[in-house]
Amino acid sequence: MFDNGAVTSLDALQPRLPSPLEEIVDERFARCGVRLLLKRDDLIHPELIGNKWRKLAPNLTAAAGRPVLTFGGAYSNHLRATAAAGRLLGLETVGVVRGDELAGRPLNPSLARCAADGMRLHFVDRSTYRRKTEPDVLAALLREAGAEEAYVVPEGGSNIRAVRGCRALGEELRGHCDVAAVACGTGGTLAGLAAGLGPGRRALGVPVLKGGFLTREIRALQHAAFGGPRGDWSLDDRFHFGGYARTGPELESFAADFEDRHAVPVERLYVAKLLYGLLTLAEEGAFARGTVIAAVITGRPFPAP
Ligand SMILES: Cc1ncc(COP(=O)(O)O)c(C=O)c1O
Repeated sequence: MFDNGAVTSLDALQPRLPSPLEEIVDERFARCGVRLLLKRDDLIHPELIGNKWRKLAPNLTAAAGRPVLTFGGAYSNHLRATAAAGRLLGLETVGVVRGDELAGRPLNPSLARCAADGMRLHFVDRSTYRRKTEPDVLAALLREAGAEEAYVVPEGGSNIRAVRGCRALGEELRGHCDVAAVACGTGGTLAGLAAGLGPGRRALGVPVLKGGFLTREIRALQHAAFGGPRGDWSLDDRFHFGGYARTGPELESFAADFEDRHAVPVERLYVAKLLYGLLTLAEEGAFARGTVIAAVITGRPFPAP
């Protein structure tokens, strides 16, 4: 314990690591000669779910009991996970939320959960939010939020420590698959996963944002975390469904059907796009017969169905 009562070791939270790896039988993939495994990172911890555990754990350790300040949109999984970590570990947390228009309104369920977990919410206008990594803007934000001593975690949680933390995901998959596939937001999870997979395997990322900027960002993350490129990885940019948080009836019915077939909860903003992309690729013949694919289940629907 630190002087302020914070818990020092995340082991106290009893993560389920390595996370389970489950093969599912899905005739649509089987017809294409492909085996599909689900890497159940959603089962690592009930509140620090999926890649949130892998990214946050090393940062929470580095925070060493200091308040943790981070950033996110109104429905951010990352903000919720950080707030939950704060409650569980006895750490003060501050969430800088995009959109000052939200300040005067009732909190949506995601932000309400953050607040209930003790996170102090600080709403900022969108143009300031966009500039949050500029040193003077960040310094002013920390001052306004009364958090000058805070340990700062970037939006989406993808810093060097997070990327290194995600390397363990690749290491856990060594020897179990030919292709490891993951949905990408900032790309930090893929950057670490690809580094951990080892030779003879490749990582495939499905970006959920539109824009085609991610290749550059992932290269930069790998450079910062590992000193240069690591692993064999690529992105397929066709499955964002119009951009972040955009879905639509086709994706919704695919996800609901997947849940019915396999009794696995399918998070809609990331995981549904990944699974949809994998099925499309399999049907296009993108994977040689006999390929074993591990799809990383990085999250769980919120609120729970
Ligand atoms: C459920 C889920 N899956 C995947 C990702 C993408 O992770 P990354 O930002 O590391 O690409 C996120 C965002 O952090 C997420 O919340």
